[in-house]
Amino acid sequence: MKLTIAADHGGFELKKFLLEWLSAKGYEVNDSGNLIFDADDDYPDFTIEACKNMISGNADRAIIICGSGVGACIAANKIKGIRASVCHDSYSAHQGVEHDGMNVLCLGARIIGTELTKEIVIAFLNAEFIEEERFIRRLNKIKELDK
Ligand code: RB5
Repeated sequence: MKLTIAADHGGFELKKFLLEWLSAKGYEVNDSGNLIFDADDDYPDFTIEACKNMISGNADRAIIICGSGVGACIAANKIKGIRASVCHDSYSAHQGVEHDGMNVLCLGARIIGTELTKEIVIAFLNAEFIEEERFIRRLNKIKELDK
């Protein structure tokens, strides 16, 4: 699975931590920025970059981090094909993929610490969409909104 990860200044340190941790675990992780710490940067810029990497096929899933996760999530869900959610618990992180086809995990670095982040990220990455009729039916209704 190819991953991309992005963050503004609010998530910069957590992104750095996750990049090292995921790479050490053997994941192929692309950095969608910000590549340097800039206290004045804007989360939509890196959210858009990560989502472009998703849409173009450079990444299968994305993790986008800002202070709360909220701004990144709002921006990501504006982009066709992206199904993003803030998850600060591991149940939502896997159920969002299994039932809803979530493909972007948004995290708030000012809300959660590194240990909880690791649990949430692993729950997200290990989960697969469950191909049951009810989940497919609901996902198709979401996909209609992209048209
Ligand atoms: C940046 O200071 C902060 O507003 C941003 O990272 C994020 O929390 C927005 O949702």
